[in-house]
Amino acid sequence: NEMIAIAIDGPAAAGKSTVAKIVAEKLSCVYIDTGAMYRALTLKAINNQVDLQNEEVLVGLLANTTIKLKQSATGQLVILDTEDVTEEIRSQEVTNNVSYVAMHPEIRREMVARQQALAAHTSVVMDGRDIGTHVLPNAEVKIFLIASVEERAKRRFEENTKKGYNVDLEELKKEIEQRDLIDSQREASPLIKAENAVEIDTTSLTIEQVADNILNEAYKVL
Ligand code: C5P
Repeated sequence: NEMIAIAIDGPAAAGKSTVAKIVAEKLSCVYIDTGAMYRALTLKAINNQVDLQNEEVLVGLLANTTIKLKQSATGQLVILDTEDVTEEIRSQEVTNNVSYVAMHPEIRREMVARQQALAAHTSVVMDGRDIGTHVLPNAEVKIFLIASVEERAKRRFEENTKKGYNVDLEELKKEIEQRDLIDSQREASPLIKAENAVEIDTTSLTIEQVADNILNEAYKVL
Protein backbone atom coordinates (compact mmCIF):
# COMPACT_ATOMS: atom_id res chain seq x y z
CA ASN A 1 0.00 0.00 0.00
CA GLU A 2 2.90 2.30 -0.57
CA MET A 3 2.51 5.54 -2.45
CA ILE A 4 4.27 5.94 -5.73
CA ALA A 5 4.81 8.93 -7.99
CA ILE A 6 5.70 8.51 -11.64
CA ALA A 7 6.89 11.59 -13.51
CA ILE A 8 6.71 11.59 -17.31
CA ASP A 9 8.30 14.52 -19.12
CA GLY A 10 9.28 15.22 -22.68
CA PRO A 11 8.69 17.44 -25.70
CA ALA A 12 5.34 18.10 -27.38
CA ALA A 13 3.45 15.18 -28.91
CA ALA A 14 5.89 12.52 -27.72
CA GLY A 15 2.97 10.36 -26.56
CA LYS A 16 3.20 11.23 -22.88
CA SER A 17 -0.51 11.40 -22.11
CA THR A 18 -1.39 8.24 -24.02
CA VAL A 19 1.09 6.08 -22.13
CA ALA A 20 0.58 7.92 -18.83
CA LYS A 21 -3.10 6.97 -18.91
CA ILE A 22 -2.29 3.30 -19.55
CA VAL A 23 0.31 3.19 -16.78
CA ALA A 24 -2.01 4.96 -14.32
CA GLU A 25 -4.81 2.51 -15.10
CA LYS A 26 -2.54 -0.53 -14.65
CA LEU A 27 -1.18 0.69 -11.31
CA SER A 28 -4.44 2.24 -10.05
CA CYS A 29 -2.82 5.65 -9.80
CA VAL A 30 -4.44 9.00 -10.50
CA TYR A 31 -3.41 10.43 -13.85
CA ILE A 32 -2.64 14.16 -13.81
CA ASP A 33 -2.22 16.03 -17.09
CA THR A 34 -0.38 19.22 -16.09
CA GLY A 35 -0.36 20.55 -19.66
CA ALA A 36 -4.16 20.70 -19.45
CA MET A 37 -3.85 23.15 -16.55
CA TYR A 38 -1.66 25.55 -18.54
CA ARG A 39 -3.98 25.11 -21.51
CA ALA A 40 -7.08 25.91 -19.42
CA LEU A 41 -5.55 29.14 -18.13
CA THR A 42 -4.50 30.06 -21.67
CA LEU A 43 -8.06 29.52 -22.92
CA LYS A 44 -9.47 31.73 -20.17
CA ALA A 45 -6.88 34.42 -20.87
CA ILE A 46 -7.70 34.42 -24.60
CA ASN A 47 -11.44 34.54 -23.88
CA ASN A 48 -10.87 37.50 -21.56
CA GLN A 49 -8.61 39.22 -24.09
CA VAL A 50 -5.75 39.30 -21.62
CA ASP A 51 -2.33 40.22 -22.99
CA LEU A 52 -0.40 36.96 -22.64
CA GLN A 53 2.83 38.87 -22.00
CA ASN A 54 1.35 40.52 -18.93
CA GLU A 55 2.36 38.25 -16.06
CA GLU A 56 0.71 40.36 -13.37
CA VAL A 57 -2.71 40.25 -15.00
CA LEU A 58 -2.33 36.53 -15.69
CA VAL A 59 -1.42 35.89 -12.05
CA GLY A 60 -4.57 37.74 -10.96
CA LEU A 61 -6.64 35.75 -13.42
CA LEU A 62 -5.21 32.44 -12.17
CA ALA A 63 -5.91 33.40 -8.56
CA ASN A 64 -9.60 33.55 -9.48
CA THR A 65 -9.60 30.37 -11.51
CA THR A 66 -10.30 26.79 -10.56
CA ILE A 67 -9.07 24.03 -12.83
CA LYS A 68 -10.33 20.54 -12.07
CA LEU A 69 -9.19 17.31 -13.65
CA LYS A 70 -12.11 14.94 -13.33
CA GLN A 71 -12.10 11.24 -14.10
CA SER A 72 -15.13 10.14 -16.10
CA ALA A 73 -16.17 7.02 -17.97
CA THR A 74 -15.02 8.62 -21.22
CA GLY A 75 -11.64 9.69 -19.87
CA GLN A 76 -10.31 12.73 -18.09
CA LEU A 77 -12.41 15.89 -18.19
CA VAL A 78 -10.97 19.34 -17.72
CA ILE A 79 -13.30 21.71 -15.88
CA LEU A 80 -12.41 25.39 -16.00
CA ASP A 81 -14.37 27.16 -13.24
CA THR A 82 -17.77 25.59 -14.05
CA GLU A 83 -17.29 24.80 -17.71
CA ASP A 84 -16.18 21.59 -19.42
CA VAL A 85 -13.30 22.68 -21.68
CA THR A 86 -11.87 19.23 -22.42
CA GLU A 87 -12.12 19.73 -26.20
CA GLU A 88 -11.60 23.48 -26.39
CA ILE A 89 -8.17 23.46 -24.75
CA ARG A 90 -6.84 21.36 -27.67
CA SER A 91 -7.64 24.05 -30.26
CA GLN A 92 -4.92 25.38 -32.55
CA GLU A 93 -5.23 28.80 -30.91
CA VAL A 94 -4.64 27.48 -27.40
CA THR A 95 -1.86 25.15 -28.58
CA ASN A 96 -0.02 27.97 -30.31
CA ASN A 97 -0.25 30.32 -27.32
CA VAL A 98 0.11 28.11 -24.25
CA SER A 99 3.91 28.25 -24.15
CA TYR A 100 3.81 32.04 -23.76
CA VAL A 101 1.58 31.71 -20.70
CA ALA A 102 3.69 28.88 -19.27
CA MET A 103 6.88 30.98 -19.50
CA HIS A 104 5.94 33.23 -16.58
CA PRO A 105 7.71 32.26 -13.33
CA GLU A 106 4.82 33.30 -11.05
CA ILE A 107 2.32 31.37 -13.12
CA ARG A 108 4.55 28.32 -12.88
CA ARG A 109 4.98 28.76 -9.15
CA GLU A 110 1.22 28.66 -8.60
CA MET A 111 0.66 25.77 -11.02
CA VAL A 112 3.43 23.72 -9.39
CA ALA A 113 1.88 24.31 -5.95
CA ARG A 114 -1.50 23.11 -7.23
CA GLN A 115 0.07 20.07 -8.88
CA GLN A 116 1.99 19.16 -5.73
CA ALA A 117 -1.22 19.41 -3.71
CA LEU A 118 -2.91 17.00 -6.13
CA ALA A 119 -0.11 14.47 -5.59
CA ALA A 120 0.28 14.92 -1.84
CA HIS A 121 -1.92 12.09 -0.62
CA THR A 122 -2.27 9.74 -3.52
CA SER A 123 -0.22 7.76 -6.00
CA VAL A 124 0.05 9.59 -9.30
CA VAL A 125 1.26 9.39 -12.82
CA MET A 126 1.89 12.98 -13.81
CA ASP A 127 2.95 14.21 -17.22
CA GLY A 128 4.38 17.55 -18.29
CA ARG A 129 7.68 19.32 -18.85
CA ASP A 130 9.08 19.94 -15.36
CA ILE A 131 7.58 17.10 -13.30
CA GLY A 132 10.81 15.21 -12.61
CA THR A 133 12.83 18.39 -12.16
CA HIS A 134 10.48 20.66 -10.16
CA VAL A 135 7.01 19.37 -9.39
CA LEU A 136 7.90 15.92 -8.03
CA PRO A 137 11.68 15.94 -7.58
CA ASN A 138 11.39 12.90 -5.30
CA ALA A 139 9.30 10.83 -7.71
CA GLU A 140 10.18 7.13 -7.48
CA VAL A 141 10.13 6.81 -11.26
CA LYS A 142 11.17 9.51 -13.72
CA ILE A 143 10.74 9.02 -17.45
CA PHE A 144 11.83 11.30 -20.26
CA LEU A 145 10.02 10.45 -23.50
CA ILE A 146 11.44 11.57 -26.80
CA ALA A 147 10.73 10.91 -30.48
CA SER A 148 11.88 12.47 -33.72
CA VAL A 149 9.95 15.57 -34.72
CA GLU A 150 8.90 13.83 -37.96
CA GLU A 151 7.39 10.96 -36.02
CA ARG A 152 5.65 13.27 -33.55
CA ALA A 153 4.16 15.40 -36.35
CA LYS A 154 3.03 12.25 -38.15
CA ARG A 155 1.25 10.95 -35.03
CA ARG A 156 -0.51 14.29 -34.52
CA PHE A 157 -1.43 14.35 -38.18
CA GLU A 158 -3.04 10.92 -37.98
CA GLU A 159 -4.88 11.83 -34.77
CA ASN A 160 -6.28 14.95 -36.40
CA THR A 161 -7.22 13.18 -39.61
CA LYS A 162 -9.09 10.54 -37.61
CA LYS A 163 -11.09 13.27 -35.90
CA GLY A 164 -11.90 14.71 -39.30
CA TYR A 165 -9.72 17.80 -38.94
CA ASN A 166 -7.82 19.02 -41.93
CA VAL A 167 -4.26 19.89 -40.93
CA ASP A 168 -1.02 20.31 -42.80
CA LEU A 169 1.84 18.01 -41.83
CA GLU A 170 4.51 20.68 -42.35
CA GLU A 171 2.49 23.17 -40.29
CA LEU A 172 2.25 20.64 -37.45
CA LYS A 173 5.99 20.06 -37.59
CA LYS A 174 6.68 23.79 -37.36
CA GLU A 175 4.23 24.23 -34.49
CA ILE A 176 5.80 21.36 -32.53
CA GLU A 177 9.33 22.67 -33.11
CA GLN A 178 8.35 26.19 -32.11
CA ARG A 179 6.66 25.01 -28.88
CA ASP A 180 9.65 22.82 -27.94
CA LEU A 181 11.99 25.75 -28.55
CA ILE A 182 10.07 28.10 -26.24
CA ASP A 183 9.59 25.38 -23.60
CA SER A 184 13.30 24.44 -23.63
CA GLN A 185 14.70 27.94 -23.64
CA ARG A 186 12.58 29.66 -21.00
CA GLU A 187 14.30 30.72 -17.77
CA ALA A 188 11.77 29.22 -15.36
CA SER A 189 11.92 25.42 -15.11
CA PRO A 190 12.58 24.72 -18.78
CA LEU A 191 11.91 21.41 -20.48
CA ILE A 192 14.94 19.33 -19.58
CA LYS A 193 15.61 15.71 -18.69
CA ALA A 194 15.99 15.20 -14.94
CA GLU A 195 19.39 13.85 -14.01
CA ASN A 196 18.01 10.52 -12.82
CA ALA A 197 15.30 10.13 -15.47
CA VAL A 198 15.15 7.11 -17.76
CA GLU A 199 15.08 8.29 -21.36
CA ILE A 200 12.91 6.34 -23.79
CA ASP A 201 13.01 7.07 -27.51
CA THR A 202 9.54 6.12 -28.72
CA THR A 203 10.17 6.78 -32.42
CA SER A 204 10.03 3.12 -33.41
CA LEU A 205 8.13 1.71 -30.42
CA THR A 206 4.44 0.94 -30.10
CA ILE A 207 2.32 2.51 -27.35
CA GLU A 208 2.21 -0.87 -25.59
CA GLN A 209 6.00 -1.21 -25.68
CA VAL A 210 6.48 2.24 -24.18
CA ALA A 211 3.90 1.55 -21.46
CA ASP A 212 5.57 -1.79 -20.67
CA ASN A 213 8.96 -0.09 -20.38
CA ILE A 214 7.56 2.38 -17.87
CA LEU A 215 5.71 -0.34 -15.94
CA ASN A 216 8.97 -2.30 -15.67
CA GLU A 217 10.63 0.75 -14.13
CA ALA A 218 7.73 1.02 -11.68
CA TYR A 219 7.89 -2.67 -10.70
CA LYS A 220 11.57 -2.20 -9.81
CA VAL A 221 10.64 0.19 -7.02
CA LEU A 222 7.26 -1.23 -5.98
O1 C5P B 1 1.48 18.63 -22.52
P1 C5P B 1 0.85 19.69 -23.38
O2 C5P B 1 1.35 19.66 -24.79
O3 C5P B 1 -0.62 19.71 -23.30
O4 C5P B 1 1.35 21.06 -22.73
C1 C5P B 1 1.01 22.29 -23.27
C2 C5P B 1 2.04 23.34 -22.90
O5 C5P B 1 1.97 23.63 -21.50
C3 C5P B 1 3.50 22.98 -23.14
O6 C5P B 1 3.91 23.22 -24.48
C4 C5P B 1 4.22 23.89 -22.14
O7 C5P B 1 4.36 25.19 -22.66
C5 C5P B 1 3.25 23.95 -20.98
N1 C5P B 1 3.58 23.02 -19.91
C6 C5P B 1 4.58 23.38 -19.03
N2 C5P B 1 4.85 22.60 -17.95
C7 C5P B 1 4.17 21.46 -17.75
C8 C5P B 1 3.17 21.05 -18.65
C9 C5P B 1 2.91 21.85 -19.74
O8 C5P B 1 5.21 24.41 -19.21
N3 C5P B 1 4.44 20.73 -16.66
